[in-house]
Amino acid sequence: MGEPLIELKDIYKIYQMGDEEVRANDGITLSISKGEFVAIVGKSGSGKSTLMNIIGALDVPTDGSYYLGGEDVSDMSDDQLAAIRNRMIGFIFQQYNLLPKLNLLENVELPLLYAGVGHEERRERAMKSLERVGLKEKWRNMPNQLSGGQQQRVSIARALAGDPSLILADEPTGALDSRTSREVLDFLKQLNREGNTIVMITHDNSIAVEAKRVVRIHDGKINFDGDVEDYAAII
Ligand SMILES: Nc1ncnc2c1ncn2[C@@H]1O[C@H](COP(=O)(O)OP(=O)(O)OP(=O)(O)O)[C@@H](O)[C@H]1O
Ligand SMILES: [Mg+2]
Repeated sequence: MGEPLIELKDIYKIYQMGDEEVRANDGITLSISKGEFVAIVGKSGSGKSTLMNIIGALDVPTDGSYYLGGEDVSDMSDDQLAAIRNRMIGFIFQQYNLLPKLNLLENVELPLLYAGVGHEERRERAMKSLERVGLKEKWRNMPNQLSGGQQQRVSIARALAGDPSLILADEPTGALDSRTSREVLDFLKQLNREGNTIVMITHDNSIAVEAKRVVRIHDGKINFDGDVEDYAAII
């Protein structure tokens, strides 16, 4: 495998709830290289979202170190976190998170706007990104004029527009029917074949086995990390 992109070492996220400590992430060590397609799977409450927030530079751990593309993220300020997110990560969420009052093109342009990309280049890159997901002709449409699967494709286009080092997908098929889920998963696989690094969070084993490598968490700890073939054999 290639160079490490994500290096998590002894990551803890501990919440103090009155007298009780909740160890949402309880000593996670994980390294993900460029070009991998990894599913992080676990039951409700196992600590997936907590870990996704740390990997996505949306939150910092209580303890432990996190390097993303060689940069130490574990004790960055909020502004620094926002900057590295913009530069390196494309997010795909279960509920698409498209802005209802912006058309498709404007939605896809948004992260580029935050990244300070100029008007012309923004338009061009956003349009190219919409083309990649097969929705170029619909650029003027508003999100509510699209099906769920199409909206998820727009959110993928938005994630791709900034040419991120990492695509981080949180239950990307959670709101979709099985046929549309299939399309979205096939598209993620294609992006991975084209060299994109993908980390996908899911509670669903049948989705997790679409990745190449599976990391399973239970009570905030990793209890499986290996090839999808080996994972498929134990579930
Ligand atoms: N802000 C918080 N304050 C206190 N406890 C929290 C907080 N966030 C998460 N937790 C606790 O940490 C544990 C892990 O939560 P997390 O949201 O990471 O689980 P999850 O695997 O994403 O679950 P789900 O599949 O239901 O989304 C849970 O016990 C949860 O109650
Ligand atoms: Mg969650």
